[in-house]
Amino acid sequence: MTSDITFGPPLSADDITRYLELGEYAFSSAPPKTPRLARIEEDEPDGPLMRVGRRGGEIVGRARVVPMGQWFGGRSVPMGAIGGVAVAAEHRSGGVGTAVATDFIRVARQHGFAISTLFPASLPIYRKVGYELAGTSYHYEIPIGITAAPRRLMEGVTVRAWREGIDPLRPLYAAEAARSAGKLDRPPTFWRGVLDEGDQAVHAVVAERDGVPLAYLAYTQSGQYDADRYIDVRDFVSTDRAATRALWTFIAGHSGTVSAVRLWGSAADHRLVDLPHRGQKVLVAEPWMVRIIDLPAALTARGYPQAVTAELHLDYRDDILPANTGRWLVRIAGGRATVEPGGDGRIAATSRGLAPVYSGHLPADLVADAGSLVASDDDLALLSTAFAGPSPWMADSF
Ligand SMILES: CC(C)(COP(=O)(O)OP(=O)(O)OC[C@H]1O[C@@H](n2cnc3c(N)ncnc32)[C@H](O)[C@@H]1OP(=O)(O)O)[C@@H](O)C(=O)NCCC(=O)NCCS
Repeated sequence: MTSDITFGPPLSADDITRYLELGEYAFSSAPPKTPRLARIEEDEPDGPLMRVGRRGGEIVGRARVVPMGQWFGGRSVPMGAIGGVAVAAEHRSGGVGTAVATDFIRVARQHGFAISTLFPASLPIYRKVGYELAGTSYHYEIPIGITAAPRRLMEGVTVRAWREGIDPLRPLYAAEAARSAGKLDRPPTFWRGVLDEGDQAVHAVVAERDGVPLAYLAYTQSGQYDADRYIDVRDFVSTDRAATRALWTFIAGHSGTVSAVRLWGSAADHRLVDLPHRGQKVLVAEPWMVRIIDLPAALTARGYPQAVTAELHLDYRDDILPANTGRWLVRIAGGRATVEPGGDGRIAATSRGLAPVYSGHLPADLVADAGSLVASDDDLALLSTAFAGPSPWMADSF
């Protein structure tokens, strides 16, 4: 029974302390001495929306929604990133987690997000409320010995140290993200973190041709000199293949003191194409899930392959956000979609059926399942073509 739980933001310093304690218990990160999240919320209009669930005056669950965007089809889609979902241990397995998730989905809708994304620790709770696997971020470990590209392949690209801060490099990130799927349109707090890691030194270099930056690398080093030592990549962003090779050769210059590079990437990663030898390992494949929050907004915000012209007749069901439920006619042409009520509803879908197709994670015929996505073979093929794109991943986690 969870109808006795009420939801809202933390209202006092004691609430914030309890919010942080629940997070510490669940994720064992020591709470800061001052309630930093509260400060973030006051200082930054883009800060997290903290949510707590109360039962009889006691806070029994919490989560946060962080406003940002996520790139699909060359456009940034307004996205609420869910993090820090935790239920007090003595209240678990009684539906509180589901109530917390239902609340943050409604909050995401109220704040105008088109989709919501999260990294699940366990999947059933999020599936119950409409999230489905929609991308995978791979953490690669690449032995330093396989990173050098021949210098003749640099095509006039040079690498130099970068000390001018992250802002001038953000257009490179956006250009690469527009050609990828799933990368975050980062909020300011995430951008600040790229080159600022407290007391750890973050290094940055750019690869440029004729003084024009084409790629950048931000990284830290970890481990022991006489044991395993790593370059840990914060951002490796490239818009040019020769510049990618130049950055790998820059990395290879560390071969005397570093054993391997670790970076987040996609299943089919354009930055790994020119590695001259095989030998990379995947340390972990981290799946993430998406829920459609506002169906027309989600469909019109993302971009589509220019060559695709399609009409999708959706019969959509959403038990938590009923405004999404109904028949929708989606017309896709020239890389954009329009959505209006109507159509013959021959594609039956819920968020769990549409989300993996929307992100380009899976073709529709592999997702089709009674209850989440049911359509004719022709319409499944049309869906797969309309949402086709590169393998979705992101360089960040939250
Ligand atoms: C995950 C967590 C929030 C779930 O809260 P809860 O109150 O126990 O969730 P509910 O009782 O609403 O359960 C929801 C569904 O998820 C399932 N579930 C809950 N915890 C689970 C777990 N650890 N592993 C697998 N399934 C789980 C339940 O079986 C239930 O499905 P059902 O109704 O079909 O049986 C809670 O266990 C928790 O705080 N865990 C520690 C922090 C954490 O893992 N957070 C998630 C980070 S993404």
